[in-house]
Amino acid sequence: MKRVSGRASRVVLASDSTTGRRQLIQARKAAEGRGSPLRPASIREVGDDLPARPAGAKRGVLRSGGFWGPASPRFPVHETSTARLGGLIPFCAPSGTGLGFAPLIGQDITGGMFQYDPWEAYRQGLTSSHNIVVFGLPGQGKSMCAKALATRLMPPPWNRRVIVMSDPKGEWTSAAEWIAGGQVLKLGAGTGIVLNPLDAGARDRQLEEGEWFDQVFAARLERLRAVVSILRNGRPITDPELGALDLALKQTGRTSSEVTLGRIYATLRDDDAGIGREMGVEAVRNLSISLGLLVNGPLGSVFDGATNVTMRVDAPLTTVDTSVLAYSDEATKAIASECVTGWVTSVLRARDGQARLIIGEEGWSDFSNPDRVAGLDAIMRLSGHYMCSLMLIFHEMSDATQFGEANSAHRNRLRGILSKADTQIIYRCSAMEAATVSELLDLNTAESTAIRSLTQGWGLWRIGGGERSHIVNPRVTAHAYQVFNTDAGRRG
Ligand SMILES: Nc1ncnc2c1ncn2[C@@H]1O[C@H](COP(=O)(O)OP(=O)(O)OP(=O)(O)O)[C@@H](O)[C@H]1O
Ligand SMILES: [Mg+2]
Repeated sequence: MKRVSGRASRVVLASDSTTGRRQLIQARKAAEGRGSPLRPASIREVGDDLPARPAGAKRGVLRSGGFWGPASPRFPVHETSTARLGGLIPFCAPSGTGLGFAPLIGQDITGGMFQYDPWEAYRQGLTSSHNIVVFGLPGQGKSMCAKALATRLMPPPWNRRVIVMSDPKGEWTSAAEWIAGGQVLKLGAGTGIVLNPLDAGARDRQLEEGEWFDQVFAARLERLRAVVSILRNGRPITDPELGALDLALKQTGRTSSEVTLGRIYATLRDDDAGIGREMGVEAVRNLSISLGLLVNGPLGSVFDGATNVTMRVDAPLTTVDTSVLAYSDEATKAIASECVTGWVTSVLRARDGQARLIIGEEGWSDFSNPDRVAGLDAIMRLSGHYMCSLMLIFHEMSDATQFGEANSAHRNRLRGILSKADTQIIYRCSAMEAATVSELLDLNTAESTAIRSLTQGWGLWRIGGGERSHIVNPRVTAHAYQVFNTDAGRRG
């Protein structure tokens, strides 16, 4: 917070001390790749406990350092915190987030440095969750912003690890190849990579073996339920079918060390296993038809089998390049996303004490599917437990309002995803979209106007569901810009 003096129309930010200016210059140089690496800024927190006015000083200005200076005859002193001032003069105050221990992301509209870290924002009570949604028109800078945030959070002292769980344009591959230790998993028939959505993952050391086994079992059953439901266009699973999957999972777990979709499929069809006798032949036949589509289809080579890549859990950036599937139908993409989510969750379940930023590019393609929405909602709900921050990137907020029937679980979960993302980054929106966004997120007039007129590269950050608003331009070095930019296809 900063101390200010003057009337609302004549606000003077009084903390532009020499140190502050030096930090700002240093921050700008670091953002442009010049000068020494930026140290975390020490932003002075003074809270609302402004010093009392000395006796006899009826009028005056509050100078840098908190001292009362010579009387000013014309303007009554107005004391406030910059958080409150932000309501009067949006985007001008406060400059910066006030997060002392967070990496520099770029510049805010006042020219001040803007720092952010989802965990630090939570620790400081600015947000109630670590999750982030980013949306706005194509080409405005959503991915650039995610890349700037991701790469700033990776180095010490933050050491956050980043997993891009869907990259349909393959645009993170160059970033993962550029960053030392980055890894790319390219998915699709013919790429040779197998990811097992039923992977147990590493054991959570905080759990007893029995508890751990139960947790893995429940996660596998849920994954199977979701995969089957997606394969049959959202038609929900019946009780006998769920019972049959439960039995197949138990029997496969008893006979094989590696539980895979193909083995579940084989167990269901195995007469000796007797699942049909117990749960009904029809239930088993329906499940076999659905799972057979996956196991025997083009995605079988990708998701049916033991994971054959070693996921370096300490890799700073792991990206799952799904560009090969770009022209597949929506159901195929949804299954692929569900399977990758299963695999990412197996990494998170180990709870290895590592904070991870999990990025979903083109989140809208997931929103049409109720099971995918339920999967994302589950990660958001458990983000504190898994020590992760889910960052979903999509084009339009109306993506989140057009799917599902009014008041359906699907629609409510979509709204839940928005409310669980306590940091919202909004890039320029069309006039129609801006109206929806303003209503859904309860934007004030200045914010509603801003989102229609933002220029490329600038986004409105609403932290704490609108408690604080900043207009921010993420800054990257010249080299990073070459690696991150997506202009090749746009410019023709
Ligand atoms: N902060 C920035 N500074 C400078 N240029 C930027 C910035 N952000 C974006 N740009 C420019 O805009 C282009 C598009 O950015 P980006 O790929 O992030 O858009 P997007 O919103 O993710 O688009 P899409 O919705 O199509 O994925 C970049 O290649 C770059 O040239
Ligand atoms: Mg993008």
